[in-house]
Amino acid sequence: MPTTPFQALRCPIDGSALTRHDKSWRCEAGHSYDVAREGYVHLLPVQNKRSKDPGDSKEMVAARRRFLHAGYYRPIAHALGQSLLCHGQSSMSCLDAGCGEGYYLRELQSMGVPLSILGLDISKWAVQAAAKLDKSSTWVVGSNANLPIVSASVDSVLCLFGFPVYTEFARVLKPGGLLLQVDTGEQHLRELREVIYPSLKPPRDSEPLVPEGFSLLEQSTVCFAIELESREAIADLLAMTPHLYRASQAGRENAAALERLSLSIDVRIKCLRRALD
Ligand SMILES: C[S@@+](CC[C@H](N)C(=O)[O-])C[C@H]1O[C@@H](n2cnc3c(N)ncnc32)[C@H](O)[C@@H]1O
Ligand SMILES: [Zn+2]
Repeated sequence: MPTTPFQALRCPIDGSALTRHDKSWRCEAGHSYDVAREGYVHLLPVQNKRSKDPGDSKEMVAARRRFLHAGYYRPIAHALGQSLLCHGQSSMSCLDAGCGEGYYLRELQSMGVPLSILGLDISKWAVQAAAKLDKSSTWVVGSNANLPIVSASVDSVLCLFGFPVYTEFARVLKPGGLLLQVDTGEQHLRELREVIYPSLKPPRDSEPLVPEGFSLLEQSTVCFAIELESREAIADLLAMTPHLYRASQAGRENAAALERLSLSIDVRIKCLRRALD
């Protein structure tokens, strides 16, 4: 079944429904949002921006695109697809909240998961890259903190290595809809962290296992090993993670000196169901 673009957007200024008119989305009050040449729409009002260029930079997005395109994280995409197929419906709308350059949505489509897709990210660079690579989905620059999406309009929300805002996820999900959240486990990229930090900190207390308004359907772990065999691949991995900014100059130099690196991948996939009202 082909992917269809998601349509239930709402005006980020007044919350009324947006309708697509050729090259723009408009609300009843006359607010109009142009569709960019690459096919995405910017629905993050200036007053809601905390910085001039929020989210991942152009360089981070390019590094993530190269790294993911090489297939290192394909088992994560595969496990995500299996969860969606197992707990979702035969055809469903899907929001990727913090979609980056759209890798996981593209992988789900190639697995034949039938979806009406909305990819959203606060980084214009990420959304621009995603829109260039997939013309059949809807791509939006926006924030998880104030999703420009009609309430109770989405069957599933994905949040991978991102910034979950559960109240917003619960609002846009239909009752009974799915939230799939992917986060790093304790061993994730341990070998890289050992190279760039003088010592490894104990894991931080994470958020509640089951956020309010949701029930836990399943929690699984995906663990595997990858071999990075070039300086470029190691640099791309570092550039797409927060470790690039957290590491000291010496830590970054240690990583830059490596020509190959064996790494543990350890991620947790939580599958949650939004409560029925
Ligand atoms: C670690 S990246 C993960 C990207 C993608 N989910 C992936 O796994 O490839 C985190 C993403 O969240 C985006 N982001 C940061 N704050 C956000 C917010 N408030 N709303 C939506 N996206 C946000 C960043 O721009 C970045 O693309
Ligand atoms: Zn409006």
